[in-house]
Amino acid sequence: MTAFHCIEDLRRAAHRRVPRMFMDYLESGSWSESTLHANRAAWDTMPLRQRVAVDVSRRTLATTLLGRAASLPLAMAPLGLLGMQRADGEILAARACANAGVPFVLSTMSISPLEAVAAASPSPLWFQLYMMRDRGVVAALIERARAVGCGALVLTLDLQVLGKRHADVRNGLSAPPRLTPRTMLDLARHPLWCLRLLGTRHRGFGNLQGLLPAGTDTRSLVSWIETQFDPAVTWLHVEWVRQRWDGPLIIKGILDAEDARLAVEAGADAVVVSNHGGRQLDGAPASAHALPDVLQAIGSRAEVHVDGGIRSGQDLLRALALGARGVWAGRTLGYGLAADGERGVTRAIDILREELDRSMALTGQTDAAAISRAALVASRACDAP
Ligand SMILES: Cc1cc2nc3c(=O)[nH]c(=O)nc-3n(C[C@H](O)[C@H](O)[C@H](O)COP(=O)(O)O)c2cc1C
Repeated sequence: MTAFHCIEDLRRAAHRRVPRMFMDYLESGSWSESTLHANRAAWDTMPLRQRVAVDVSRRTLATTLLGRAASLPLAMAPLGLLGMQRADGEILAARACANAGVPFVLSTMSISPLEAVAAASPSPLWFQLYMMRDRGVVAALIERARAVGCGALVLTLDLQVLGKRHADVRNGLSAPPRLTPRTMLDLARHPLWCLRLLGTRHRGFGNLQGLLPAGTDTRSLVSWIETQFDPAVTWLHVEWVRQRWDGPLIIKGILDAEDARLAVEAGADAVVVSNHGGRQLDGAPASAHALPDVLQAIGSRAEVHVDGGIRSGQDLLRALALGARGVWAGRTLGYGLAADGERGVTRAIDILREELDRSMALTGQTDAAAISRAALVASRACDAP
C-alpha cells in the first residue's frame, strides 16, 4: 500500500492511475494558463509570520460554514466529470467529505446523478448549478436538489461562455471516452481504471440524462454549452433562482468588488471568490489578489469563501488570514480521488488538516475561525493589489 505524505504524492499517483485525457482535464487551465499559474504563485509569495513562545497547546480547527458545523474551514469545490477520475467518483468523494465533516459540492456536470450521490452521502450535499437557457431544466434541477435535501445551492456565474482549454480539445475528451487508437492505447495502460468503469452504470452526464446524448465528445459538448449555457444571464436571473430556492444560496465566480455587491443585493448568502481554477478568463487576477477587495465590498453581509490554487494547509492558513471564512479545494481533492478513491479523498483532507493545524501552531494561532492578517508578514500581506 502506497503511503501518501503530501498532496504531491497523491498527484503523482493520480498520474499513474488515470488515463492521460482525464488528468489533462483535471490539471489544465485556459489558453496560456497564466491565471492558473497566478493562483499558485499568489499563495506561494505570501509569507507566513512565524511566532514563538506562544502557548499553542490547545488548538481548534472547527468552524461553521453557512450555519453548518465543519470540522475545518474547507469545502470540496465542484469538479465536473469526477466519475471519470474514478468510477463512481462523486459518490466516493461525497462520502469521504461527509465522514471528514467537510461540505462536498456536486457539479451539474457530474457523472453520477445527484439522487445517487445524495443517497450514498451521510450528510447533505451542496449542489452546483449552471444557468442554462432552458429555464425548465434549471427549475427541474433546483427541484431535484431540494427533493434530495441539498444543504446549499451554488450558482456558478463565470461560465457564460467556455474558456478554451487546448488539451481537452486535442484529447477529444468525452464521457465515456471515445475510442480512437490513441485513447485505446491510453486506456490499455490503465486496465484497473477501465475495469472499475465497466463495473458501474454511471458513465454519462448523470444530471443531464436525456439532454445530452451518451458519449458526447468535446466538440458536441462545447456546442451544447454554447446553445445551453446562457450568455444573456444577468442579476435578474439570479433573483429568479433566489425566488425558487429558499435554502442558502452561494454565488461562485466573483472576482470583482462591484459584482460582489450585486451578488449580495441579488440575495446571495455567500460568494466564492474564484476564477474557476484558471479555466475561464485567462489573464484574470489570482483569486488571492481579488479576495481583499471583495471582502471590503461585502463586509459582514454575506460569507466570503475563496478557491484557486489551494494545495496545502499553509495555503489554507493564508486564505483564512486574508479573511476568507471558507476555503474550497478543487484539484487537490481531485488528486486524492484519482489516486485512491474514497481513501484518497480522506487522505487529502487529512493532509490539509494536519498541515493547517501544525502551521497554526508555528504562527501562534489557536483558533482557525479567528485567524487574522496578523498571521501574515505585514509588509507582504499588504502587497496584494
Ligand atoms: C477539472 C475541473 C472541473 C471543474 N468543474 C467545475 C464545475 O463543473 N462547476 C464549477 O462551478 N466549477 C468547476 N470547476 C472549478 C472548481 O470548482 C474550482 O473553482 C477550482 O477547481 C479551484 O481551483 P483549484 O482546482 O486550483 O483548487 C472545475 C475545476 C476543475 C479543475
